Amino acid sequence: MNIQELLKKKSDGRKITMLTAYDYPFARMVDEAGIDIVLVGDSVSMVVQGLENTLPVTMDEMIYHTKMVKRGVSNALVVGDMPFLSYQISIEDCIRNAGRFIKECGAHAVKIEGGLEAVAAVQALTRAEIPVMAHIGLTPHAVHRMGYKVQGRDEKAANRLLEEARALEEAGAFSIVIEAVPMELARRITENLYIPTIGIGAGPHVDGQVLVLHDVLGLFERFLPRFARRYANLKEEGTKAIRAFREDVEKGDFPSDRESFK
Ligand code: KIV
Repeated sequence: MNIQELLKKKSDGRKITMLTAYDYPFARMVDEAGIDIVLVGDSVSMVVQGLENTLPVTMDEMIYHTKMVKRGVSNALVVGDMPFLSYQISIEDCIRNAGRFIKECGAHAVKIEGGLEAVAAVQALTRAEIPVMAHIGLTPHAVHRMGYKVQGRDEKAANRLLEEARALEEAGAFSIVIEAVPMELARRITENLYIPTIGIGAGPHVDGQVLVLHDVLGLFERFLPRFARRYANLKEEGTKAIRAFREDVEKGDFPSDRESFK
């Protein structure tokens, strides 16, 4: 997968798929299933580290996870998610941090959150040959300002989101995540852009869909957003397997002779 192929998928009307992954074995699963883009999301903070929101995860932690993911991926595009305050302080900081995903991890691109305020960063990264995926609508780094609410519901807010999407495309973003917006607005943005839109809670009229892997696999039980779909319950399956191991050990059924050395 590469950026040209993603653009071609949009122009051919073929849907783009993206899932998060945070380590080697899950990255292998996502890649083997034929997903186009693996996002090493800062959602790692919530679904792996067990924290309240995405704000605390650090740049070094994101690098650690992205290295593991990259080793497990042979086909998909790997995108490193820039964590809170890794790109907002200065352009110099932003390029240095984004460059770490490319140089140290072998990622193909980075993702940054934000509308008009992110345009300068997108421009600078594009000039530095670091491909950028933008992210508008509900942006979790702004949780203390927006909460986890659907964005762009009134005409003024909708027009602003469209203006932001156009500005980010103009600045050089190769694609754009649209999170938690009404589906007709997501359609309007999608129809107005040359680059692909990837929706999460943005309805079906976008160029692709992204979900958090731990929601898809049933590994995160604190809550399931209305827009997510659970395709498996690995938490239940895993607990069942671990319980069976405990019972076998306690009964003396494990290890057997075949599992021991003479
Ligand atoms: O961090 C993340 O998982 C994300 C996706 C939900 C788009 O940003």
